[in-house]
Amino acid sequence: MSKKILITGGTGYIGSHTAVELIQKNYEVFLVDNFSNSHSSVLQGIKRITQIEPHFTKLELTDKQAVAEYFADHHDLDAVIHFAALKAVGESVEKPLLYYQNNLISLLHLLENMIEYQIPYLVFSSSCTVYGEPDKLPIKETAPIKPALSPYGNTKQISEEIIVDLTKAEDNFSAILLRYFNPIGAHPSGLIGELPIGIPNNLVPYITQTAAGIRDVLRIFGDDYDTPDGTCIRDYIHVVDLAKAHIAALERLINAENESNCEVFNIGTGRGHSVLEIVHTFEKVNHIKLNYIIDDRREGDVEKVWADNTKAQKILQWKPQFTIEDALRDAWQWEKNYRGIKT
Ligand code: UFG
Repeated sequence: MSKKILITGGTGYIGSHTAVELIQKNYEVFLVDNFSNSHSSVLQGIKRITQIEPHFTKLELTDKQAVAEYFADHHDLDAVIHFAALKAVGESVEKPLLYYQNNLISLLHLLENMIEYQIPYLVFSSSCTVYGEPDKLPIKETAPIKPALSPYGNTKQISEEIIVDLTKAEDNFSAILLRYFNPIGAHPSGLIGELPIGIPNNLVPYITQTAAGIRDVLRIFGDDYDTPDGTCIRDYIHVVDLAKAHIAALERLINAENESNCEVFNIGTGRGHSVLEIVHTFEKVNHIKLNYIIDDRREGDVEKVWADNTKAQKILQWKPQFTIEDALRDAWQWEKNYRGIKT
């Protein structure tokens, strides 16, 4: 019998790619989403890639009653991968209550029901944002957690603490927290990818929308940082590699290989790239000239971060397979497919 896995935020960017990888490994996948930052057409993309239609329920995780009803109908789930959350840093500064309400209440509802129905395994979507401006690079999982730079970042820190506390209290509940660096790219089929609603906040969707002519110009936020070319450095990880890290984490829990009830892993490539490197690599691999300008720094941006991923490599036996070139090619392929651009 294949294991039944619930993916919250299942039609979102990382959730949909994880659904594909799970289906391809013969898991039975149950997706829930409220479509606040995704689209039902993603379900068709997943089906076209895998030939399997995932179970889907439109669900608002902040609705206690609705979540209780969902779990009453799906009490035989084996594990949960929890992606559903709001994630725009700037918006979280303007609407902190929305972020605390949405990200924390959803998590509490989910956990209450996992305990109620004895669903023992959780993989949680955390972020390198918990490290703030790092003292040492690359960042290890043991690096200190700094005061959060935004309400969004704070929701990730508090969520981690809630999960840690629960794993201490409940012997039969274990979790893996994955701290992602910057996910980019799209499924190599071009059938699913990142689909931000409105103006993108993140670099790569802004680049692909500029290349597609939807945005006039890419603004590079600052070129006077203490980095080789003056622009910020991030660790950009292909979304399919990131999705596969979730499978590795899930299987570690299911096979009871975890050494403690709550483990944490950095999921990044271990390499940093500057904003200008990303722009120029995008231009090179896709044979496109991007319209960009250098603008002021964006408030709250960390100068440079990249992961030490040796723990994930050793313990999860996970290793990124895609290059930055692959990721930027796949991102553009997806944007072109989605917009019907022929080149
Ligand atoms: N950038 C630009 N122009 C843009 C968009 C981004 O120059 O139009 C730059 C940013 O200044 C930054 C880099 O591109 O230097 C990456 O920015 P993103 O917005 O793509 O990603 P961030 O690193 O700011 O944010 C990501 C996640 C957040 C998470 C954060 C933790 O999106 O959810 O990492 O560091 F909180």
